[in-house]
Amino acid sequence: MLPQINFTQTQAYKYLADHYISINAHTLKDLFAADPSRFEKFSVQLEDILLDYSKNRMDEQTIALLMQLARECKLDDAIKSMFGGEKINVTEGREVLHTALRNRSGAPVLVDGEDVMPKVKAVLAHMKDFTNRILSGEWKGYTGREITDVVNIGIGGSDLGPVMVTEALKAYKTRLNLHFVSNVDGTHIAETLKGLDPETTLFLIASKTFTTQETMANATSAKDWFLQSGALQSDVAKHFAALSTNGEGVAAFGIDTANMFEFWDWVGGRYSLWSAIGLSIALGIGYDNFEQLLEGAYVADEHFKNTEFEQNIPVVLGLLGVWYNNFFDAESHAILPYDQYLHRFAAYFQQGDMESNGKYVDRNGDRVEYQTGPIIWGEPGTNGQHAFYQLIHQGTKLIPCDFIAPATSHNPIGNHHQLLMSNFFAQTEALMNGKSEAEVVAELEKSGKSKSEIDALKNYKVFEGNRPTNSFLLKKITPRSLGTLIALYEHKIFVQGIIWNIYSFDQWGVELGKQLASTILPELKSEEAISSHDSSTNGLINQYKSWR
Ligand code: F6P
Repeated sequence: MLPQINFTQTQAYKYLADHYISINAHTLKDLFAADPSRFEKFSVQLEDILLDYSKNRMDEQTIALLMQLARECKLDDAIKSMFGGEKINVTEGREVLHTALRNRSGAPVLVDGEDVMPKVKAVLAHMKDFTNRILSGEWKGYTGREITDVVNIGIGGSDLGPVMVTEALKAYKTRLNLHFVSNVDGTHIAETLKGLDPETTLFLIASKTFTTQETMANATSAKDWFLQSGALQSDVAKHFAALSTNGEGVAAFGIDTANMFEFWDWVGGRYSLWSAIGLSIALGIGYDNFEQLLEGAYVADEHFKNTEFEQNIPVVLGLLGVWYNNFFDAESHAILPYDQYLHRFAAYFQQGDMESNGKYVDRNGDRVEYQTGPIIWGEPGTNGQHAFYQLIHQGTKLIPCDFIAPATSHNPIGNHHQLLMSNFFAQTEALMNGKSEAEVVAELEKSGKSKSEIDALKNYKVFEGNRPTNSFLLKKITPRSLGTLIALYEHKIFVQGIIWNIYSFDQWGVELGKQLASTILPELKSEEAISSHDSSTNGLINQYKSWR
């Protein structure tokens, strides 16, 4: 059982509320001036990943109080409950064991008394065999040609993880061309299929439930396209595989269950890239690299499970997030990778974080009276600098940011990487220090501006600074380091869910829209005007009908 503690009623919360007043009176610049050893104190290294969290609006006392908060909220018990296979996804009656998928210890993981590791390993062996047969060309399409293209059809957790990872690890690409279709908008599949040859294309139908409307629609259209090429129903087995927990659904769709890669309901959709859902990853970067990704995640799992809170990256990051969310009233959190390969990283954690912690009912079943999960957003640097950083630097909102960059590039062309890294370092420094009025005036004087010109301009050129950031510096983006980084973020989300006393592993909030769409669908089929909704919805539907 997870604890059911209102964190705002703890002793630590009360101390933090007082402490916030004194921290708020200091700027980050002051804090650094007062303590030159902040970097040593507030940075942690895990293998080839360095986290510097010293540019946060906190000091040693803040960290001590945040750790006290974690202890009062019984975070340590909660971590044990998750790894121990308790049914902590209470509203769905399920265990939360994505960690078992990357358990490299050899130790059993029990679900209702049964060790799930043999099943996990059997699926991995199946994935390995399949991947190697496709890559070697031993697996042939229905006309005897090798597979050249793989289309993963899935949405949400059955899409975002594989897309993000295969993009992040493109430097490790195999000979296969990967494509991802998620949107029910026919444009997505139509545009994807345009360049493809049915004789050499493999479809992976990725759906935990195998009932998701978008995925089933896209899978059906893919099968129609395949059969229209002259292939027979019996050829489907050579071109369609399923990644799912739902064997019956897979068989009913017409996919040979020998081509089904199973996972289990104790794997949450947004935590499933480590499962059979990762088959597109294995095909895209090779099975050994997929295993390295799992190894990397296992490093983060062990770190999270065994490291004291003060040195524990997900715990520190999670609690700093709580600090900004609940004391500084920050509404969002930006993830800003300085690596083009990580261009879907923020999008991936939009689902990971917002579907997990975007909840207003607590573990006691009551409406919370405090803020829970932040809005997650971000784009890669330096693109973001020329788009939305204006608001981060000089806007009225406090936006804590995570900056992520590799020390080594996979593409060391000219001085590109130094240019990139100079921006990476400059941004966190600029956000912290800002630029004072005196500095602005001195600069304008130097450029020859008159007193009146300076007076008219100076306020616009001042940067208050004092904007908090975390910096992740990785030696290189490899399957292993990426696996660790993703799992660290996953556990950060867990930490925050525990503190906010919410259930992070269900997602009831996506149901209402689905339900209403299924009510509206039959109404769209008829030609009659609709009057069963409010005037806005009726008006929109009726206009749509008259224009289509
Ligand atoms: O959007 C809701 C959701 O259930 C996500 O949690 C999940 O990742 C996605 O739909 C896809 O679900 P499935 O893998 O069952 O098709």
